[in-house]
Amino acid sequence: MPKPILRDTEIDLSPLLRQKVVILGYGNQGRPQAFNLRDSGVTLKIGARPESHKREQALADGFEVLSIPEALAWGDVIMMLLPDEVMADAYEKMIAPYLRAGQSIGFGHGLAIHAGWIHPNPEINVFLVAPKAQGRGVRNKYVAGSGVPGLYAVHQDPSGNTEAIALAYAKALGCGRIGIMPTTFAEETTCDLFSEQAVLCGGLTSLIKTAFETLVEGGFSPEVAYFECLYEVKLIADLLHERGINGTRKAISSTALFGDVSQGDQVIDGHVRENMRRVLDNIVSGRFSESMRREFAHGKPEIRRALMRDEQHLIERTHRDLHARLKF
Ligand SMILES: NC(=O)c1ccc[n+]([C@@H]2O[C@H](COP(=O)([O-])OP(=O)(O)OC[C@H]3O[C@@H](n4cnc5c(N)ncnc54)[C@H](OP(=O)(O)O)[C@@H]3O)[C@@H](O)[C@H]2O)c1
Repeated sequence: MPKPILRDTEIDLSPLLRQKVVILGYGNQGRPQAFNLRDSGVTLKIGARPESHKREQALADGFEVLSIPEALAWGDVIMMLLPDEVMADAYEKMIAPYLRAGQSIGFGHGLAIHAGWIHPNPEINVFLVAPKAQGRGVRNKYVAGSGVPGLYAVHQDPSGNTEAIALAYAKALGCGRIGIMPTTFAEETTCDLFSEQAVLCGGLTSLIKTAFETLVEGGFSPEVAYFECLYEVKLIADLLHERGINGTRKAISSTALFGDVSQGDQVIDGHVRENMRRVLDNIVSGRFSESMRREFAHGKPEIRRALMRDEQHLIERTHRDLHARLKF
């Protein structure tokens, strides 16, 4: 059965208007979400640690900023918009000691709960509202009178009104202007991590680099290889976003279409599918989240090595060179 889609007219904002909301983490998601909530009439304040780099920005944006203990004493709904890798430590040391029965904590992504990094007391309501966009998109679409799709889920509901609060929160972000779908922490987390690894981030960057290297090894210039393998990805991504796969195929040349249908499955073959299954298995088994915790606990050695290595990759040097010399 298809998932239900909820829109603004079916969602009551008042359960959230009766609550005081605290945003913890004034970053990619926290700042745009705070703006949208304020414009939707929600009462909110920002919670920041003493050494916060974002306090001044939040004050300049017109928000009241409280210390985290003060914010937790004031608020009813605590939105956890911190980086995933700091959630467990921040929760244990700065948040859990100050929470009280009946409060709600919300997440923008389910990882910390699903991976078991955080085990909220059973008297705390726990929900997820995941807008399907980066923070900038969440704000820009809202200001334009539109929104981005959103997913919501409830992990525990001792107060009995957590779903109503989650839906109202998603509506206040503008997600109900497009559509809000129910999910679970397990589904949101698994699919989000998998798509980042197999498609959006890991898969795409590796596909681009490998294709670029193949052309350059074949004797072609880095500049033309760059245009064909990286630059034009945006054009196709926009078409895919708007029209889906066959709609995109109708918009490309007949040569490109024949190349697509005759060669695509040769490149992304059964071997790649096996690799993807392994990636999914690592996520489902918890091996990925364990290795992520180790990586961040040890100062991100694998991330730093990869960033340093790719900074000098020919495709990055070509990108910098063309951006300096062309009028993009
Ligand atoms: N980025 C996205 O597009 C996106 C999309 C959907 C969902 N999400 C989810 O939204 C959540 C937030 O992600 P984000 O990218 O918005 O995070 P982010 O921008 O990296 O968060 C930065 C904020 O977190 C605070 N912070 C950093 N380390 C902290 C610590 N140890 N203790 C307390 N506060 C700390 C920073 O405050 P200081 O000023 O104190 O340093 C800053 O305000 C994540 O769960 C993420 O998965 C993100």
